[in-house]
Amino acid sequence: MMRRSLSIRLSRKHEAADNPNTVSPVFTEVQSAAGAIFYQSRCAACHGKSLDDGAFAPPLTGELFLQMWGGKRANTLADFMITTMPPAAAGSLKREEVVYLLAFLLQNNRVRPSLEPLPSSDTALSHIVIPSPTNPYGEVAAGITLPLPPNPKPDPLDQITPVTSQTLRDPPDADWLTWRRTNDDGGFSPLAQINRDNVSHLTVLGMGTSEWPKRRHAPCA
Ligand code: HEC
Repeated sequence: MMRRSLSIRLSRKHEAADNPNTVSPVFTEVQSAAGAIFYQSRCAACHGKSLDDGAFAPPLTGELFLQMWGGKRANTLADFMITTMPPAAAGSLKREEVVYLLAFLLQNNRVRPSLEPLPSSDTALSHIVIPSPTNPYGEVAAGITLPLPPNPKPDPLDQITPVTSQTLRDPPDADWLTWRRTNDDGGFSPLAQINRDNVSHLTVLGMGTSEWPKRRHAPCA
């Protein structure tokens, strides 16, 4: 009895704040384990053994999956699976099997198992909201804004001056950003420190070969 009341309290804690009729998902480890076995035999051939490595079907775990299904009700996902999956035998999944598969998919999408089973009726499933990337149950409750980290790391990109098309068309005098420096292929530097009068004073201090470029982009200097 003690255990049961504890699990109910935990699941209620995550009730979606904006709609009292919605609850966060619950399922047991047994349900998810049954779903895993079923998944490997009926679904993995297309969706992949690890749920995101299938050659023939979209991932069933991770951001892409949550972008598609996050925030939707569990009965919508159940209906989708019942009516379309597996494509060659759509309509063949029993409700009980779909519930196990749902539990397995939830476990692979950030929801932890509990002691309370995932219900199977359509009405009960319609109150359950699948976690979305912006509302990850079990991590941060909905509506909470986290403070900034105490010492934000400097962003290395802040030190890089963006190069725009305008800069490439008309580069600053001291810059040589493309192969011939300007779009007209001039190959001319407007710097005036070295001129006809002093060029004869230049002497060679050293020589070396530079490495052959590994990529066929115009060198930047
Ligand atoms: C023959 C290959 C194949 C098999 C087997 C298969 N699926 Fe799919 N599944 C697909 C394809 C293709 C899509 C994409 C369909 C679409 O976008 O309309 C898909 C989509 C899905 C989606 C929606 C994913 C998304 O992000 O849109 C779910 C959930 C799903 N399948 C579950 C299952 C389950 C559960 C099984 C096993 C009972 C299964 N599938 C078996 C090919 C397969």
